[in-house]
Parts: sequence; C-alpha cells; structure tokens
Amino acid sequence: MSKLFVLDHPLIQHKLTYIRNKNTGTKEFRALVDEVSTLMAFEITRDMPLEETTIETPVTQATTKVISGKKIGLIPILRAGLGMVDGILKLIPAAKVGHVGLYRDPVTFTPTEYYIKLPSDIEERELIVIDPMLATGGSANDAIHSLKKRGATNIKLMCLIAAPEGIEVLQKEHPDVDIYLGALDEKLNEKGYIVPGLGDAGDRLFGTK
Ligand code: PRP
Ligand code: URA
Repeated sequence: MSKLFVLDHPLIQHKLTYIRNKNTGTKEFRALVDEVSTLMAFEITRDMPLEETTIETPVTQATTKVISGKKIGLIPILRAGLGMVDGILKLIPAAKVGHVGLYRDPVTFTPTEYYIKLPSDIEERELIVIDPMLATGGSANDAIHSLKKRGATNIKLMCLIAAPEGIEVLQKEHPDVDIYLGALDEKLNEKGYIVPGLGDAGDRLFGTK
C-alpha cells in the first residue's frame, strides 16, 4: 500500500485557505499556488539521500553533506499542473520537466490523453507527478499508467487537494506511488468537483471559464 502524507505545515494550510476562497482573483491564485508548491517541494524532498563531501571553509577543512546526485523529473498534468512547476523548480532547479496532457470529460469524468512529451531517461529518474486536484483519480491514474508504460519505476504524486474517492483509486491501481497532499477534503459532488475544494483549478489559474 502506498503512503499518504497530508502536509499540514501552517504556511501550507494558511495559503490553501486563500486559494480556496472564491474571491481570490487569478493573479493572487497563481502566486499562491506557486508558493504552496515550493513549500510542498520542501517536504517531499525530505528523504533525498545525502553524501559526504570535503570542502575548505574560510576557517578550515570540513566534511559536509550534499544531495547525492538524484535525478528528478517533474511531470505536470496539463493544464493545471503547469501552475505548480515554477514553485518546485525554485528548490530543484536542475529537474527535467515532462508534460502529460489530459482532459476530463465533463459528463463521464473519463480522462483523454492528448499530449505527452517526457525526458528521454525517465526510467532513471525519480518522477514527481503534479496536479492541483485529485478528484475521481482518473487523470492521475492514467498519467501514471502512461509513465509506467514508458519505463518509469519511481513515481510520487503531489496534489494540493484530493478527494477520498481519488485516493482509493490511486492506492488500488498504484500501490507503489506515495501521495503528498496539502489537504484531504470531504467528498466529490455530482459534477465530480471536490467539496469543499477550490473549484476548477485550470480555469482559476488561467482565467478561463
Ligand atoms: C482537472 C485537474 C485534474 C483533473 C482531476 O483537470 O487539473 O487534472 O481535473 O480530476 P480527476 O481526478 O477526476 O481526473 P481538467 O480535466 O479540468 O483539465 P484542465 O487542467 O485542462 O482544466
Ligand atoms: N478538477 C478541478 O479542477 N477541480 C475539481 O474539484 C475536480 C476536478
């Protein structure tokens, strides 16, 4: 069974409240998603392996630590996952970025893949799939299947908000993929939106309707 982490750092929770608020406009919404993504990246990288290195400080020689060359790939699910990319790259600037384009049918909620472009060495990378919303789980499930089909073996999923329905699907289909959330909400409504959620993440990020 995969592990589920709800990253309840006060700054993440505080910023999520403003993200959820329907009176928060596009500009502020974008900035907050960016900030929360940076904070979540800080938590998700907690288990990165370190190795020792020897350097000269201005005072003496010292044996200190550096991250031991782990290769990261960020995989935003289009469109809304794009809003999280820059915030994470602030902490992991050398990460490569692959894109998976999926849209959800508004009636059946079935996802359709319309685009995929990945780093050539995804099988060697630790992949972090990012999407603000995990609702029915259909989009993340398909994206992860698509990555595995192309050789990926080491995958984490990071979402701002999830519904229990989506978590159940992901844990059943991908027991090897740990999930990192800003919040686990109550349920889905009849339109497949997360309750209380934040509405349509793509529309709020890009100012569309
Ligand atoms: C949203 C969201 C997720 C998906 C979640 O994307 O960004 O990708 O819905 O729902 P699910 O868990 O039920 O699949 P949407 O399909 O609206 O596309 P967009 O990002 O282009 O707006
Ligand atoms: N997609 C969104 O953007 N929001 C939801 O609440 C569910 C799916």
